[in-house]
Amino acid sequence: MRDERAEADLLIRGARLLTCAPLRDEHPRVGPAAGDVGAIDDGWLAARDGVIVATGRGDAWKRFALTANAVERQVQGRVVMPGLIDPHTHLCYSGERWDEFAARQSGADYLAALERGGGIHATVRATREASDETLLALMRARLARAVSLGTTTIEIKSGYGIEPEEELRQLRLIARIRAEAAIDVAVTYLAAHALPHGVERRAFLRAAEATVDVVAAEHLAEAVDAFVEKGAFETDDVRPIFKAAQRAGLAITVHADQLHDMDGAAFAARLQARSADHLANVSADGMRVLARIGHTVAVLLPGSAFFVGYAPPDARRFLQARVPVAIASDHNPGTSPLEGMPAAIALAVTLCHLTPHEAIVAATINAAHALGRGDRTGALVKDRRADLVILETDDERDLCYRLGAPLVREIYAAGRRVA
Ligand code: NIG
Ligand code: FE
Repeated sequence: MRDERAEADLLIRGARLLTCAPLRDEHPRVGPAAGDVGAIDDGWLAARDGVIVATGRGDAWKRFALTANAVERQVQGRVVMPGLIDPHTHLCYSGERWDEFAARQSGADYLAALERGGGIHATVRATREASDETLLALMRARLARAVSLGTTTIEIKSGYGIEPEEELRQLRLIARIRAEAAIDVAVTYLAAHALPHGVERRAFLRAAEATVDVVAAEHLAEAVDAFVEKGAFETDDVRPIFKAAQRAGLAITVHADQLHDMDGAAFAARLQARSADHLANVSADGMRVLARIGHTVAVLLPGSAFFVGYAPPDARRFLQARVPVAIASDHNPGTSPLEGMPAAIALAVTLCHLTPHEAIVAATINAAHALGRGDRTGALVKDRRADLVILETDDERDLCYRLGAPLVREIYAAGRRVA
C-alpha cells in the first residue's frame, strides 16, 4: 500500500499553542469567547504551502511527513500563537512631532495645536515635502519594525496628504509597500483628516468624495476612513464620503468619539462600518447602537490615550454590552508614536482593563474581523493562513506583564519565517 502520510513544510511542536479557535461559526468574539484563547498544552501545528493543515496535542504530529526543505521546531513549552494583527496605523508620514509631544507634557492641548495649524497639519507639510523615495524608505523601516515585533497583518492609512492629488500619491506609495511586503497589508483611504486653512469646507468634502471613486477604480484602498472630532469633521460632513465608499464597494472605518462624543459610534454602526476606532468618549446611546446593530468592531487605541493624556476607553463597558473589541497601535507621529502590538497589548490591559487573554483575542482574531479578514487569519486552525509567532516565554500573560521585554522570538507569515 502507498504511504498516504500527509506532508508538511512547517511543523512546530512542544508548544503552548493558543489557537484562538472559533467556538462554532466564526464571528467577532464577545461574551466568554472574548477571553478564550483556546490554549492547547503540548500542542503542535503543521502547515503546507503557507496554510495550516492541522493542529493537535501530544505526538499525533508524527503522522506528518516533512518535505525536503521543511522547517521543524520543538519549542519546549514556549507559547505559539496567531501572528499579531494591527488594524489601525498611519505609517505613511515624514517628520516627528517631538515639540508638540514635549509641550503637551506641560499642559498644551492636542486640538489647540491643530487649530493653530500645527498637529496633523505639521505632519501634512513634512510628508508633502518628502520625496517618493524618502517616504518609501520610512514606510519600509516602520513596517519591518512592526513585523519584528510580531505583526503579520497590518492596516496602513493615508491621511497626511489631505488634498486629493497628494492623498493619491501617498496611496500609490502605500500600494508599492503592500506589493513588496512579506505580510498582508490592508490599505485605507483616510479621506477627511483635517481641513486645511483657507479651504472651503464644502468644496474640500466634495473633492474627497470624488476621490473615493478614483481610489476604488485604481484599487488603491479597500476601506475609507474619516476623523469625526471637534475641530475636524462632523458626521454630517463625512456622510457623503462614506455613501460614495458604499457605492464603490469599499469598507468603512471611522475615527469616532476619540476626544468628544460626536455621535460617531452610532454613525459608524448605522453605516455598517467594519470598525469604529478610538471610542474613548462613546456615549451610552452610541454603545447601545453598536451593540444592537452588532456589525461593527470597536477598535480601542490605548497608545493614543497614553500619549495624549486623556481618559482611556474602558473596555469593560464594551464587553458588558457585548460589543466586540479589537486593539491597534494607531502608530502615528502625533498621538501614538509607539511601535508594534506588544506595547498596545500591554497598555490595553493596564489602561483599558482588558484581561490578558481578552487583549490577545483583541489583537488577533477580533483584529482580523476589524479588517474583514476574520475567516483567513487571526486563529491557528486548519485552512487558515499560517501567520504565527513563537514567544520567548511559556506564559502569554508576559506580553502585558513584562512590558518592554523582547518576547517575540520568531515570526511566520503565510508559513514563511519573516523575522
Ligand atoms: O488616530 N486623531 C486623528 N488621527 C490620528 C492622529 C493624527 C495626528 O495627530 O497626526 C489618531 O489619533
Ligand atoms: Fe488613527
